Amino acid sequence: MAILKIAHLGHPILRRQAMPLTPEEIRTPEVQRLVDDMIETMREHDGAGLAAPQVHEPLQVVVYEVASNPRYPEAEDIPLTVLINPVVTPATEEKAVGWEGCLSIPELRGKVPRYTTVRVEALDREGKPVAFEATGFHAVVIQHETDHLQGILFVDRMEDLRTLTHLAEYERYWAEEEA
Ligand code: NI
Repeated sequence: MAILKIAHLGHPILRRQAMPLTPEEIRTPEVQRLVDDMIETMREHDGAGLAAPQVHEPLQVVVYEVASNPRYPEAEDIPLTVLINPVVTPATEEKAVGWEGCLSIPELRGKVPRYTTVRVEALDREGKPVAFEATGFHAVVIQHETDHLQGILFVDRMEDLRTLTHLAEYERYWAEEEA
């Protein structure tokens, strides 16, 4: 396993549409290694999730996990999940605004509106179909990570760029506020 280099805002790969994988491709050692390396890279950087374009691979692969994450101390735990070729559809019209950050946009946070419940259809790391509904922070993470596969970053989803905040100032002025 290896910790991969993360692409930062401005790298063109973050703006490309990622390519889907066939179940046969998913089962290759190359893709399995990519998934393992993405998990290790996400954990190394205390990310809640990571999408393949963020590690310079234009493929429709995302991983996420939240377990006592120091970047998101208030967040509920979410088990390690691998989604390939995910299709995400809102299961409600209701949106909630919450703070988001991104390993590709270091040291910044901003307020982003997201659907509170989404339906997900995808393949798992064995290439088997999975389908489920997610709510709350889990739904936020899924929308954030799957946006990366369309070349969309959280700043594109912000309704008011004036909430863009450096992490130190977030901790000082905004962390206590109710989202
Ligand atoms: Ni991100």
